[in-house]
Amino acid sequence: MRYVMVGPNEEWSGFVHFRLVETVAQTDLHLTYTSRQTASANLPSPRRVLVLGATGTIGAATVRELLKRRHEVVCFVRGGGIVARRNAVELLQGAEVRTGDVTDPQWLAQACSGSGPFDALVSCMASRTGEPEDAWAIDYKAHADALAVAKDAGVSQMVLLSAICVQRPQLPFQHAKLAFEKLLIDSDLTYSIVRPTAFFKSLSGQIDRLKRGKPFVVFGDGKLTSCKPISDRDLACYIAECLEDPRLHNKVLPIGGPGDAITPKQQGEYLFSLLGREPRFRHVPVALLRVIAEGLGGLGMVIPAMAKKAALARIGLYYATESMLVFDPKTGQFDQSATPSFGSETLFEHYSKVIKGEISNDRGAHSVF
Ligand SMILES: NC(=O)c1ccc[n+]([C@@H]2O[C@H](COP(=O)([O-])OP(=O)(O)OC[C@H]3O[C@@H](n4cnc5c(N)ncnc54)[C@H](OP(=O)(O)O)[C@@H]3O)[C@@H](O)[C@H]2O)c1
Repeated sequence: MRYVMVGPNEEWSGFVHFRLVETVAQTDLHLTYTSRQTASANLPSPRRVLVLGATGTIGAATVRELLKRRHEVVCFVRGGGIVARRNAVELLQGAEVRTGDVTDPQWLAQACSGSGPFDALVSCMASRTGEPEDAWAIDYKAHADALAVAKDAGVSQMVLLSAICVQRPQLPFQHAKLAFEKLLIDSDLTYSIVRPTAFFKSLSGQIDRLKRGKPFVVFGDGKLTSCKPISDRDLACYIAECLEDPRLHNKVLPIGGPGDAITPKQQGEYLFSLLGREPRFRHVPVALLRVIAEGLGGLGMVIPAMAKKAALARIGLYYATESMLVFDPKTGQFDQSATPSFGSETLFEHYSKVIKGEISNDRGAHSVF
């Protein structure tokens, strides 16, 4: 059995209060089914599920998966949100969509009542900017309110989409996510906290510049970090499994996609091979990124507009130096073998389909984290 420490840090609560939480045993991690198999396996009895963040990349995929499994899905989306403005109804076809201010507990309570009880709450909602104020408002406060409202309405289970990077928190949005994880763990709801590694969209940002003949940009030698990318559909399947599989209940669940961990260098090499070109890299020293982040941070103290840029630079620096794999505090190393795999879709298949034009490189309203 493995354990991770979760809980707010000093900045959040003024005191250190970590709690050991059971994570999935390594033997359980390589679940004996793939996402494709589960889709056709015996379906559990349909449940009534309330989904937050349904208009996001993983939220929309999760809604599709829940509907495929014949659950009744009700999505609370904000009016005027980035995707909601465009095509929430089309995107979430088959689900009931209720539009309002998801951050307003009164609206939430009202929207929750009146049409029968919900069995579970699934949240893929997250700050789109990652800026401190937005992160605390969405990743913490809106979730805390939704949890309270859901509990009052009799909901007994919650599946939360979090992120693997919260295991080594340095950024405000990571602290906000951790603070809510703790609230959820301490609630009496059955919970599954899903901490995925990198999404395909986050690793596909350089395809267009490579097509234009530009080099692939890496930090350092391009091997400083690695991750086990997971596709939107596989992650959505995993989230749906969390509702249904008791082995995934009351656990913090780091999760990656199939296969070995991949470095940025390998991503670039594979893309060049698909394009039939010699690999060409531009190496950006991490020290330069650090100087930029610190410089902008200094300027941000006097020029508010610079503070936002500094926050973005810090996020960039974090991902340039931290792997999206389970971190082993004993060895002080990221450990790909301790990072569970789920699903069947690979990043390289995805790259191949994008390059061949079989799918679009739709990265949504992508943010850097
Ligand atoms: N990118 C990665 O590689 C990666 C890896 C691991 C974990 N994660 C984590 O995965 C999570 C979800 O990622 P994603 O890419 O699916 O997110 P996303 O596409 O940015 O979607 C965010 C969702 O939250 C909603 N939301 C944001 N602010 C809101 C507000 N003020 N009121 C109501 N709804 C609001 C958005 O609604 P609108 O459509 O209305 O804006 C959208 O539905 C994040 O927590 C992220 O940290 C990401």
